[in-house]
Amino acid sequence: MWDFFETVRHRHSVRKYQADMPVEREKLHAILEMACAAPSAGDLQAYHIEVATSQADRDALRRAADNQSFIAEAPVCLVFCTDAARSAARYGTRGETLYAVQDATIAAAYAQLAIVAAGMASTWVGNFDATEVCRTLGIPAGLTPVALLSVGYPAELPEETPRRRLDEVINFR
Ligand SMILES: Cc1cc2nc3c(=O)[nH]c(=O)nc-3n(C[C@H](O)[C@H](O)[C@H](O)COP(=O)(O)O)c2cc1C
Repeated sequence: MWDFFETVRHRHSVRKYQADMPVEREKLHAILEMACAAPSAGDLQAYHIEVATSQADRDALRRAADNQSFIAEAPVCLVFCTDAARSAARYGTRGETLYAVQDATIAAAYAQLAIVAAGMASTWVGNFDATEVCRTLGIPAGLTPVALLSVGYPAELPEETPRRRLDEVINFR
């Protein structure tokens, strides 16, 4: 089992997946539990997660996401949606426009790390048509997809991605 720092360092976007290796139900459940362990404003968890496993749903998501083919090739696609009304009920406009997005995307980030810890890989997909995703998966009004995660066993060793220097990003005071 990797420690947290190794897990973070080993997370890279993977866009090729083992076609014959499905994601085990128990691992998927554990990953979703970790997503839901993320902090959320007022502990409201103002999000909803659609778990797309069928080929038909993954093909539909690929089409809605600019035909990024790895989405259909990965055995699972997680669709993180905001539930703006849930946060708005307590926090008004700030909940609706900010906290719900933060809740959903922090959950997605936790899921990405849990996926690595479970021996798999993912790619965060932001380039998609949210209206098309809702239409095709029948996502109820009020929920807005904000991030997709393709999930599966990797079939490529991704390139290390560079990061900006810490002193460019951070200001110690
Ligand atoms: C908000 C967001 C949107 C992204 N959208 C896409 C996308 O549509 N397609 C894609 O292939 N990768 C997408 N990515 C993945 C980034 O390209 C990737 O995380 C970045 O290049 C750093 O590489 P790494 O994940 O391997 O560290 C997205 C990542 C984030 C956080």
